[in-house]
Amino acid sequence: MNASDKAPKSDAGKSAILDIAGKQITMPVRSGTVGPDVIDIGKVYANTGAFTYDPGFTSTANCSSKITFIDGDKGVLLYRGYPIEQLAEHSSHLEVCYLLLNGELPNQKQFEEFRGIVSRHTMVHEQMTRFYQGFRRDAHPMAVMCGSVGALSAFYHDSTDINDPRQRIIAAHRMIAKMPTMAAMAYKYSIGQPFIYPRNDLDYTANFLQMCFAVPCEPYSVNPILARALDRIFILHADHEQNASTSTVRLAGSSGANPFACIAAGIACLWGPAHGGANEAALKMLEEIGTVKNIKSHVEKVKDKNSGVRLMGFGHRVYKNYDPRAKVMQKTTHEVLKLLGVNDPLLEVAMELEQIALHDDFFIEKKLYPNVDFYSGIVLRALGFPVSMFTVLFAVARTVGWIAQWKEMIEDPEQKIGRPRQLYVGSGPRDYVQVDKRA
Ligand code: ACO
Repeated sequence: MNASDKAPKSDAGKSAILDIAGKQITMPVRSGTVGPDVIDIGKVYANTGAFTYDPGFTSTANCSSKITFIDGDKGVLLYRGYPIEQLAEHSSHLEVCYLLLNGELPNQKQFEEFRGIVSRHTMVHEQMTRFYQGFRRDAHPMAVMCGSVGALSAFYHDSTDINDPRQRIIAAHRMIAKMPTMAAMAYKYSIGQPFIYPRNDLDYTANFLQMCFAVPCEPYSVNPILARALDRIFILHADHEQNASTSTVRLAGSSGANPFACIAAGIACLWGPAHGGANEAALKMLEEIGTVKNIKSHVEKVKDKNSGVRLMGFGHRVYKNYDPRAKVMQKTTHEVLKLLGVNDPLLEVAMELEQIALHDDFFIEKKLYPNVDFYSGIVLRALGFPVSMFTVLFAVARTVGWIAQWKEMIEDPEQKIGRPRQLYVGSGPRDYVQVDKRA
């Protein structure tokens, strides 16, 4: 039997007991394939009249999923069971898309078929070009992405019926195929160059590079080594279980909203500096530090709680060990800079900063390690992307994770509309007072 066919045990043979003011209720404990057990608190309110309280969902699983597994203490990341290091080394982003979406690696025939389908969906409706022209010339490309991806639902009505499995898969293929085209259009618009059409003879990431960097007036050939480096970056960012943007996509989708609108919601969430915006923030921080001699004073600022300064690209909600993606990213950064013959002083700053932080008690005690975004800015800049495009590139890569998680949720019989409760701390009931009688 294939490992992925093993259904998770629904019961760990254990239960948990909750005692509220002498009243006890027993809750089932569920086990996954690997990872911690979960206490099923679904009946706590019905049985006790009390809610549970967990801001930021630090102890709460919102769904069961077969897509991605993280062991934050050991620094392990698996897509459908496969370690991220192996996928980054041997696979391609498009193959990873197939894996995340379908659960298994494709055989040659399945891959060629998938490649053909994705290639044939890379163009966007021609009218979309006019939609782009409605944005201000200096708009941030993430602002353009939030609007334009949401607008896809206005152009592709025939794949918005979430109850039709065929439409769901067409929407998934469309998202994976069109996202690079739309990201490249956002970039071209921001620099005032004409949009470049996709080329279906190129691989997924090579095609993206040519849409970003080719111009109609001269030939452009993609450097295969740089395309491979970006492809690897896409693999590293393809999914990360129930992170903030993925949870946003699931929550938006739980109401039955169409997939394009849900992905637009995910893009909005990704934009924040605590999430996908961190690669932009990390590079800006390295630029501000500028040279190795300024590191010490920056680290002191970070350690001063009153400064409100964080070490961007460090720390993670789940990883309390080295982010396995950061290791691959660090290696890729060295490879790309060497290949391009670039001597970026910020790489020296980043490496020294990392070493200082890894040996400093403040960071050790708080288990703060570099995350995937610590090095990604340096390599993306070397590839020729402006800082404003960094989070857009993250969105291109994460699209498959979002759509695979959205599809899994819609197909989950346990799925319900997401509706958290609250601890109300506002005013108690009071009577309305006419305006002339108010103090
Ligand atoms: N620099 C300095 N201190 C930090 C950092 C940091 N980067 N991250 C966490 N801390 C400290 C907090 O001040 C807090 O200290 P305290 O206990 O004394 O109050 C403690 O560590 C715990 O921090 P929280 O914010 O509660 O941890 P949380 O799990 O909520 O935050 C997060 C995770 C948002 C990623 C945080 O580490 C952070 O802001 N990092 C910088 C931004 C970043 O790199 N984000 C990218 C995340 S990865 C991704 O999205 C691909």
